[in-house]
Amino acid sequence: MPYDLTDEQRDRYREISLRSKARKQAMLRDHSESAGVLEEELNERLDPNDLMPQLDRHGLTALSLFSGGGGLDLGFERAGFEHLASYEILDICGETLRGNRPNWDVHSGSIEGDVRAAPFSRYRGVDIVHGGPPCQPFSIAGKQAGADDPRNMWPDFVRCVLQTRPRAFIAENVPGLLDSKFESFVDEFIISPLKGQYTIFRFKLAAHDFGVPQARRRVFFVGFRAARDAARWIQPQPTHGDVDTVFGPLLPRNTTRTSLGLPSIGFDEVAPTLRSGFTGPRNTTGVVNSKASMTVWDKLNVWPNGVQPTRSMAAAYTPENGHFRMSVDDCALLQGFPGDWRFSGAVYQVLGQIGNSVCPPVAYAVARQIAIALGV
Ligand SMILES: C[S@@+](CC[C@H](N)C(=O)[O-])C[C@H]1O[C@@H](n2cnc3c(N)ncnc32)[C@H](O)[C@@H]1O
Repeated sequence: MPYDLTDEQRDRYREISLRSKARKQAMLRDHSESAGVLEEELNERLDPNDLMPQLDRHGLTALSLFSGGGGLDLGFERAGFEHLASYEILDICGETLRGNRPNWDVHSGSIEGDVRAAPFSRYRGVDIVHGGPPCQPFSIAGKQAGADDPRNMWPDFVRCVLQTRPRAFIAENVPGLLDSKFESFVDEFIISPLKGQYTIFRFKLAAHDFGVPQARRRVFFVGFRAARDAARWIQPQPTHGDVDTVFGPLLPRNTTRTSLGLPSIGFDEVAPTLRSGFTGPRNTTGVVNSKASMTVWDKLNVWPNGVQPTRSMAAAYTPENGHFRMSVDDCALLQGFPGDWRFSGAVYQVLGQIGNSVCPPVAYAVARQIAIALGV
């Protein structure tokens, strides 16, 4: 939504923007000299791979729909699943997936990658189908049009499950989908078409409960074809938190500054939810998703706008208030992507892929429990 600004505020923001542009140009001129300065001053960073140790392949296969930049795919791979294919409509996401896993069978673009036209019957016999059907129809940021939104892709996810008959399916979405206003939607488009053949569980998970240094909640639907597998299902339990659970002691939460390797300022906290760079009135290089979250970024002394393509460029382009400016690698880390997972595209496209993704350690936690339920 456009902000309601007075002329005075508009002039002030224009002035800030011009000053910022001039500083950025100076930074680009001097970049080669100042590059890497802050890099050397950083402490050790969080390695998200430690949150999801690679498990041996157990032989279970997966089909990935709406794969995006690969959050679910990566988590399932690290939990020992082998992907038969991934389908994603955006070419740039396909480039990311192929760039990281040249041996994967990635179908991307508006013809090859469109789930609405994909020939699913060829994957009959796959063990699991996973995917995050586009969530704009239900997100608080969107207009919450649900079934009337042309981006409602649940019927295509369901068609895939019915045609391939996997032992289990996993669908992820925004927590808004469990709001009472979407109860009939969930029943009509997810539960009713599948409940005759699958036992379905639904639950919410918070990324910071699984070591990701970000407050991010997602809803999951998990279904099992065999009653025996459904009976073995146990929802993933938090590994990180402040209060121990009956399942055992928890590790302390990972917080923003410590995870990014920044020096202590006497305050640290999990990062606010990162917004997707694909959403909003125009493509953006900022990850702020609300006014309240800006207050937290501010207290963290981290600058979440004008995200830079590299850490050295961010270090050379200090914001006026002296806060730490983030690069795409920092945002990826806060989402739980390890440093060796590279994203293709311009900054806003990378932020789009990051902000749309399931945090890989959360995907991993779900994938591990699925594998156990399937008896491996
Ligand atoms: C919520 S994101 C999925 C994120 C992904 N599961 C991850 O963890 O990184 C939804 C994705 O669906 C893709 N998409 C939208 N419509 C599609 C279609 N008709 N066919 C294939 N992919 C589609 C979007 O481009 C977007 O990348």
